Amino acid sequence: MAKKLFIKTYGCQMNVYDSARMADVLAPLGYGPTNDPTEADMVVLNTCHIREKASEKTFSEIGRLRVEQARRQAEGADMIIAVAGCVAQAEGEEIMRRVPEIDIVLGPQTYHRLPEMVARATRARDQRRGAKFIRKHKGAGVLDTDFPAESKFDHLPDETGSQGISAFLAIQEGCDKFCTFCVVPYTRGAEFSRPVAQIVAEAKRLAAGGARELTLLGQNVNAYHGEGPDGGTWNLARLCHHLAEKVPQITRLRYTTSHPRDMDDDLIAAHRDLPSLMPFLHLPVQSGSDRILAEMNRQHTADHYRRLIDKLKAARPDIALSSDFIIGFPGETDADFKATLQLIEDVTFAQSFSFNYSPRPGTPAAVMAAQVPQDVMNARLQEVQALLEKQLIDFNRATLGKTVPVLLERRGRDEGQLVGKSPYLQAVHVDAPDHLIGTVADVEITDLGHYTLGGILAAKAAASHPAAGNVAELQPERAIA
Ligand code: SAH
Ligand code: SF4
Ligand code: F3S
Repeated sequence: MAKKLFIKTYGCQMNVYDSARMADVLAPLGYGPTNDPTEADMVVLNTCHIREKASEKTFSEIGRLRVEQARRQAEGADMIIAVAGCVAQAEGEEIMRRVPEIDIVLGPQTYHRLPEMVARATRARDQRRGAKFIRKHKGAGVLDTDFPAESKFDHLPDETGSQGISAFLAIQEGCDKFCTFCVVPYTRGAEFSRPVAQIVAEAKRLAAGGARELTLLGQNVNAYHGEGPDGGTWNLARLCHHLAEKVPQITRLRYTTSHPRDMDDDLIAAHRDLPSLMPFLHLPVQSGSDRILAEMNRQHTADHYRRLIDKLKAARPDIALSSDFIIGFPGETDADFKATLQLIEDVTFAQSFSFNYSPRPGTPAAVMAAQVPQDVMNARLQEVQALLEKQLIDFNRATLGKTVPVLLERRGRDEGQLVGKSPYLQAVHVDAPDHLIGTVADVEITDLGHYTLGGILAAKAAASHPAAGNVAELQPERAIA
């Protein structure tokens, strides 16, 4: 009988992608996916270290799993527990020390070695069972938090399952930027780009599995500098053009997360020249104060960011922006915070993520003297979130009555309803037949929910108001499936 694998994922899209790839690596060992941890023969926790709260979840989740593991062992079954991801990388030895029953701890760059780790962990378990001291045995787990010389991508099997209509593809890993607040350069290692040919091959397989939207992933995705088929070094703009040409089934291309410093002219021009590149960009700025940006080691100013946005809007007038903000970075004064609010007013964002600064062990900012008091941070966070929320609602409201192209992805909750995404990642509900799943349909937006939009197929809208004449119709040439 097939063994069951449960993977729980925290953190960013890179972790979502990695979780899918870990499942691919474990499939040849006989592990198939389950959504129920209580019946799992193996559980992988794919963890995130970015803020303290994210990190803390690891230990509470391990606690819960230990209970399950003990229950299964009492019933004569077993459960291998593996802790992967960024907490594993940063605190691997501490995890092993605190919870010796954990079988495997592995970092984000070694999961191609999972089969070997599982074999070692299983051997250790069998020996323990033979010696009849299953639970008392300490420290027999496998720890692999290397940054290996080989690229894991050269050793991964092909994807075992389809990711559906909207797929992730990691093209770049790691970070060399060392923002003073951030753990990523330590948990993911140095910047590294996959070769173009490998990316195209994976994109083709994803498209064959039904993908129509591809989000290219990397911690600094626009720092991409991979080996091209001509032996030269290609940037992200060139890769996007190449993917559009070689994998035409992909109707929508996106990339995340970008750094303002790597937003080069080629990439801005690609937003003008490549219709499949969606007019929506997540470009984190973190702060609007030049002093704080310098302390964060972001290596650009607030005006540099404003100029970038101007250039992007000149290239692609309908582009919308999203960003991340850190509130209460050490030394942030009221004036610095006001500068952040001002930047938000100037740029206007369709969507944003804002967080209180969280001191991370081993990062330079964690030991800066002027930590901002919690109550000040909380008050500022509330103020910034109110402004960002207002901008989000205004952005959604502006779509009311407009016709937008929606990539239909799956059935909705109601009978006869499909759910898809606008170019701006807004969820859109629409009554439409199943055979339209995987196609881009024009939808007239008629309803505004808080985070979702509702609409009717533009073809239907035109039919029900014949006087409207040339309202855009459902365009069959854009239908792929
Ligand atoms: N590479 C991306 C961000 C990756 S981390 C970039 O350079 O923008 C995702 C987000 O987490 C960051 O944009 C930042 O806003 C937030 N973040 C990172 N470290 C943090 C910390 N110590 N405290 C609070 N938020 C943090
Ligand atoms: Fe972290 Fe900065 Fe690297 Fe982004 S660019 S991953 S925020 S160090
Ligand atoms: Fe978290 Fe690691 Fe991603 S720290 S945000 S899972 S790169």
